[in-house]
Amino acid sequence: MPATVIVGCQWGDEGKGKIVDYLSGRMDWVARYSGGPNAGHTVKLGGEIFVLHLIPSGILRPGIRCVIGNGVVLDIDHLLEEINSLEKRGVGVLGRVFLSGAAHIIFPYHRWVEELQRQDVRVGTTRRGIGPAYQDKMGRNGIRLLELLDRRWLRERLDGELARVETLHAAYGRPMPQSRQEARETWSRHFSSVAAFLEPMIADTVTLLQDALDRGERVLCEGSQGTFLDIDLGTYPFVTSAPTTAGGAATGLGLAPRQLAKVIGIAKAYTTRVGNGPMPTEFAPALADRFRRQAGEFGATTGRPRRCGWLDLVLLRHAVRVNGIQEVCLTKLDVLRGFRSLKIATAYRRGRRTLRTPPLDAREWNDCRPVYRSMKGWSEPVTGARAWKELPAAARDYVEGIEESIGAPIRILSLGPGRESTFPMPKVRSTGKGIAARRR
Ligand code: IMP
Repeated sequence: MPATVIVGCQWGDEGKGKIVDYLSGRMDWVARYSGGPNAGHTVKLGGEIFVLHLIPSGILRPGIRCVIGNGVVLDIDHLLEEINSLEKRGVGVLGRVFLSGAAHIIFPYHRWVEELQRQDVRVGTTRRGIGPAYQDKMGRNGIRLLELLDRRWLRERLDGELARVETLHAAYGRPMPQSRQEARETWSRHFSSVAAFLEPMIADTVTLLQDALDRGERVLCEGSQGTFLDIDLGTYPFVTSAPTTAGGAATGLGLAPRQLAKVIGIAKAYTTRVGNGPMPTEFAPALADRFRRQAGEFGATTGRPRRCGWLDLVLLRHAVRVNGIQEVCLTKLDVLRGFRSLKIATAYRRGRRTLRTPPLDAREWNDCRPVYRSMKGWSEPVTGARAWKELPAAARDYVEGIEESIGAPIRILSLGPGRESTFPMPKVRSTGKGIAARRR
């Protein structure tokens, strides 16, 4: 049985958690393949809200088993808190979550280095040590989860890594927040005892998932962040340090590319971004402020106000192509209610050139002016709609206007935070060149 991948089509926060939860009813496994506690996946269940940072949202469906793959960077204190909090709220975690022994660990010194290098200020990171942890992984200095199980070995490894961190602090002319000796002793004790608690969950998750696929079980690969935060394909250098696109599911979980049979892209009906970097369709400050409050656009991880703007089809088309997205799920359409007219960017103008694909160089983005198509707005609330035909005509036109130019059909609509607000779209009646999406 092949695997399905969920990816974000924009700069993250598209509502992936909610859609993973919705789709996981049909799955046996949900596996996270990259990123770390920088992600924040919010799911509303009944009256309760769950915000998950590391454990896949599939955990909220009884019977689903979850994997945190080798591509993830783990803050194990954070993981422990998340496990405890879920268990306290009646969500069984033990025996259902498997952690790759090859996942790299985020240590407190990764946060020190992030601050030292001012990545938090330059890029506007989540300050969770993500970049420096991936830096160490790629530089072959990282410490992996399985190494925590041997305290003496860990102490030696920490001593070596802390020596490097000490040199770095000296180069920046800054004191270490804690001495090398003290950090080595406290952390080797602390991290090895947390790892001992987690030991029953530590596994060879590659073999676990491969065996599951051999048995015909269904695996959902949960992406974190969004396509344009991808270290290779995003708006570099204003990106995260990991692959966020569909290809990352192969290396981050040990699945072969041909096992990733279906890719579902999640796109918000408008655009948001947290942190620094280009965003051509960003609203002017007054509109951004009003919209943000109406839409509740504040970061799930850091609480930071998200930047908000019109939907950008240049991004969506590119995301569909580089991820191989076959189906799109459109979220938060309900939030667009109340505009007399809505804008959608169909291309960028840069000087005298019209661009239909995103520029490679971050500096070029700053000169890109969106070319907008205007769409009629709607004033009726759509949150209560449970089917396509219950939407106002203008909302349906908006959805079909998007669908016509992104190269993939919109198959799922989500109109609110609860499970009941997400529903499948009727199949398109005719498909001609592109997607002729008339459903009426
Ligand atoms: P880092 O991943 O903490 O290194 O942050 C790098 C960039 O990615 C910053 O602009 C963050 O705001 C952004 N980022 C990281 N995780 C998320 C997320 O889950 N949603 C939205 N933006 C994110």
